Amino acid sequence: MQGHKRTSYNSLTSERRKLLAEAERATSTAYAPYSKFRVGAAILTQSGKIITGSNVENAAYGSTICAERAAILRANAMGYRSFEAIAVIAKGDAPIKQPTAPCGACRQMLYELSSSAGKRLEIIFSNSDKSKIVITTIAALLPFGFGPSNLTE
Ligand code: THU
Repeated sequence: MQGHKRTSYNSLTSERRKLLAEAERATSTAYAPYSKFRVGAAILTQSGKIITGSNVENAAYGSTICAERAAILRANAMGYRSFEAIAVIAKGDAPIKQPTAPCGACRQMLYELSSSAGKRLEIIFSNSDKSKIVITTIAALLPFGFGPSNLTE
């Protein structure tokens, strides 16, 4: 896994453990009656604030919003747009065995807001029981991403 690091819960810093714990807590607010796949995301802003989000599904399935984008929109509405890290975790009726990585649309939105972090915005994603955790960056998850500078340079 180039640019990505498999890690263990015990080797996470206490700051990253807290971020993951907040993401986990946010899974309880997910509205996921269709997939039963409850996702929580927690953003750490560059000023040290944690802002969470969870997925919100819709009877018109395509109108669903993922936890990551829900957290981004919430952060933006609260006046935060410079992010250092985001943690993601999902819960199902049974434990989700594999780490839940952000989908393509969420990667694109994270890319947009990662320029202040020099594209090093850290992404931590975990499986339900935190036995499998991946730490990576938006640059590694979205190589050759299309961003604000592509419109002007
Ligand atoms: N989902 C997220 O919220 N984040 C992800 O990273 C993957 C997918 C949501 C969308 C939908 O509500 C459910 O998980 C199943 O795809």
